[in-house]
Amino acid sequence: MPEIKRYRVGGFTVAEYDNLDSTNNLLKKLASDGAPDGTVVIARSQTGGKGRLGRSFFSPEGCGLYMSVLLRRNVPVSIAKLLTPLAAVAVAEALERCGSKRIGIKWVNDLYADGKKVCGILTETQVRPNGGSLVWAVVGIGINLFEPSGGYPEDIIGRAGAAFAENADGLRERVAAETLLSFERCLGSIESKAFLTEYRARSILYNREVTVLPAGITARVVGIDDDCRLIVRTESDELCLESGEVSLKL
Ligand code: BTN
Repeated sequence: MPEIKRYRVGGFTVAEYDNLDSTNNLLKKLASDGAPDGTVVIARSQTGGKGRLGRSFFSPEGCGLYMSVLLRRNVPVSIAKLLTPLAAVAVAEALERCGSKRIGIKWVNDLYADGKKVCGILTETQVRPNGGSLVWAVVGIGINLFEPSGGYPEDIIGRAGAAFAENADGLRERVAAETLLSFERCLGSIESKAFLTEYRARSILYNREVTVLPAGITARVVGIDDDCRLIVRTESDELCLESGEVSLKL
């Protein structure tokens, strides 16, 4: 699939394509072939958009932003694990700067507006053989900018929403540029973890009752620690969740 556009935003070089199976897949291949830090791939649509836990990500043309960012940073894996929540803050701030609805964060990688998921983030990494530090990370960001004219497919109807009430000229390009600039700013302070203040402030889970998946345990969310683990309290215990998923009890 040929590139249709190439441009720079801050320290990033963006290559835009019409249709790809998955921007993450292409960028992982480019990373293996030696692409530099700051390489970004955007597709106008994806036929095989991927989400976490083996799910697919609905990626039609004309109403979303599908973007992957390559980072090559020699950081410990413990810091690399913060890339997903850091990207969540960057996207939330960028969307609101572009005039979106108020954006909340559902631990760990989902953005919500009006109770519906409007963005998901999938980070894929290669780490050094001893497991101690990062070689590269591909941070994939999928945003539903506005609702498709035919509505959402049956399997996500009721759960998926859009960050904006309607489209506007150049919206996708503006959100892409603001997201990259915001990401760059947040990355500058990843080691100090300063972004966690904003992450916590946007959390939609505080003090909510959730089901911890896949175990199915009921718990109340009491906090997010400095490694971005979710702290939940069950009737008998306090648990510290590293990764995975919780579903909100209504
Ligand atoms: C999730 O909701 O679990 C994560 C969704 C991530 C989707 C984005 S779209 C751009 C990039 N390419 C992919 O195939 N996935 C990510």
